[in-house]
Amino acid sequence: MAFEGKRIWITGASSGIGAGLARAFGKAGATVILSGRNRDALAAVAADVPDHVILPFEVTDYEVLPAVVDHAGRVDLLINNAGISQRGLAEDTGMDVYRRIMEVDYFAPVALTKLVLPAMLARGEGHVSVVSSIAGKVGSPQRTGYSAAKHAVMGFFDALRTEVGHRGVRVTTIVPGLVRTEIGKRALTSDGTPKGDSPDDVDAGITPDEAAAIILDGFARGLREIPVGASGGADMALLDLKRQDPDALLDAMGQMGAEVVRRFRGQA
Ligand SMILES: NC(=O)c1ccc[n+]([C@@H]2O[C@H](COP(=O)([O-])OP(=O)(O)OC[C@H]3O[C@@H](n4cnc5c(N)ncnc54)[C@H](OP(=O)(O)O)[C@@H]3O)[C@@H](O)[C@H]2O)c1
Repeated sequence: MAFEGKRIWITGASSGIGAGLARAFGKAGATVILSGRNRDALAAVAADVPDHVILPFEVTDYEVLPAVVDHAGRVDLLINNAGISQRGLAEDTGMDVYRRIMEVDYFAPVALTKLVLPAMLARGEGHVSVVSSIAGKVGSPQRTGYSAAKHAVMGFFDALRTEVGHRGVRVTTIVPGLVRTEIGKRALTSDGTPKGDSPDDVDAGITPDEAAAIILDGFARGLREIPVGASGGADMALLDLKRQDPDALLDAMGQMGAEVVRRFRGQA
């Protein structure tokens, strides 16, 4: 896929992976539509994107979505990247937290994609994608709601591909491991407040620009699913283990969970 002259819409472009993608697609000659809520942060990212449109909105504000989609105009590639994570044990977590994560990480990308899709189907070409997670493939401790939402969004996009692929609309799922972004700090704890500045496992991840380079390469190669991580990294090894020995993966995740709960309860 050549990116030059394409109109590429990225949600969550004000930070982290989305900002990395905006810079990378900008460099590759695309017109980048940058969305997020933080206008100043969007403008700062857009400064490095030669051809851009800034289109701020809250992804769960479903009433404004049709107007936002009108404003975006023709879209060649939509990347549903905006998202929120979780750090808290299921037994402590309120239903309001589960609902918020499901809104941002599942219902919002579904709603936006459904609005962008009709024009692509009418043209007989287009491309929609979503940033899921390894947590969308592997149940991960302290992330019951996040894992559920990321599994759900994988299911929606994989099923959508079966309906629109033969009509010219490509569907890509993106599966990052650990990427050093704000996601851990902003993750919702069991009472719905953000986790804040304490150390997080994403601190050990690759950079957003490295993640963006892997994602652009995956799009260019026409992958339907793009794993994103350092080759040989422990996070990518979990994806391999899931394919090769699913039972061993469940054992490994059980051990990881026991360690995480011990540490978490020890700190509490
Ligand atoms: N970092 C990782 O290790 C990792 C691993 C796997 C998957 N992912 C996924 O990658 C995606 C990007 O996350 P990131 O790591 O780059 O985190 P990040 O630095 O926290 O960026 C999240 C982005 O989502 C936007 N966003 C969040 N809630 C929103 C809302 N309600 N309405 C509109 N925009 C919203 C934020 O924009 P505003 O603040 O401007 O609204 C921000 O630009 C997420 O879907 C995440 O689940 C990340």
